[in-house]
Amino acid sequence: MACLKSILALFLLFLIISGSDSMPRSKTVRRGGRIIKPCKRMVLYFHDIIYNGKNAKNATSSIVGAPAWGNKTILAGQSHFGDVVIFDDPITLDNNLHSTPVGRAQGFYIYDKKDVFTSWLGFSFVFNSTEHKGSLNFAGADPLMNKTRDISVIGGTGDFFMARGIATLMTDAFEGEVYFRLCVDIKLYECW
Ligand SMILES: *[C@@H]1O[C@H](CO)[C@@H](O)[C@H](O)[C@H]1NC(C)=O
Ligand SMILES: *[C@@H]1O[C@H](CO)[C@@H](O)[C@H](O)[C@H]1NC(C)=O
Ligand SMILES: *[C@@H]1O[C@H](CO)[C@@H](O)[C@H](O)[C@H]1NC(C)=O
Ligand SMILES: *[C@@H]1O[C@H](CO)[C@@H](O)[C@H](O)[C@H]1NC(C)=O
Repeated sequence: MACLKSILALFLLFLIISGSDSMPRSKTVRRGGRIIKPCKRMVLYFHDIIYNGKNAKNATSSIVGAPAWGNKTILAGQSHFGDVVIFDDPITLDNNLHSTPVGRAQGFYIYDKKDVFTSWLGFSFVFNSTEHKGSLNFAGADPLMNKTRDISVIGGTGDFFMARGIATLMTDAFEGEVYFRLCVDIKLYECW
């Protein structure tokens, strides 16, 4: 029953995604009547492959905590409430899982609402490419059923020393409850 519910929810999510234009619009930010433009903008993808009991080699994330009514192999019922997932996902410049990664998205998410898929994210983009070295740190609520969700860029190191801004997340694709591809539109409003 819970499974059927999540399949229905995913189907709904699919309808929302397929009805959307590919890039989120950027919100106009004003301060004292002046329009503030981001000092840096990057669009990147990251790929989350959740361990499901069969894909140990391929998985990039794992359920490490589950509520009493669930287990650590399959995301729990009741909108996965109580599940804690740790990830180390490849970051790519385009939407291809097999593109050369420019870094890793490392951190965790927790599902924190029982009646609708909602998570809380805390993670870093750790860049290791010729173009970027350093990290960006992200945190915030992720109401997954929304087409776009804004989370905070709370800081950075290296090339992103002291950076701050907003990251708009979009679920770009998913396969069952194993593979999730997220598009991240990063807008930094503080650059050093
Ligand atoms: C985990 O829960 C799922 C769904 O309730 C169940 O099908 C599966 O057998 C459980 N796995 C383990 C290892 O307990
Ligand atoms: C960064 O990339 C270089 C070149 O591919 C590699 O030698 C190095 O181990 C990487 N560093 C980290 C921290 O992943
Ligand atoms: C999610 O969508 C709802 C309804 O469109 C909106 O009211 C809410 O502000 C959105 N939340 C976030 C965090 O984007
Ligand atoms: C790893 O998982 C992804 C996403 O589900 C899939 O496209 C890919 O073929 C898998 N690779 C292997 C080697 O199983």
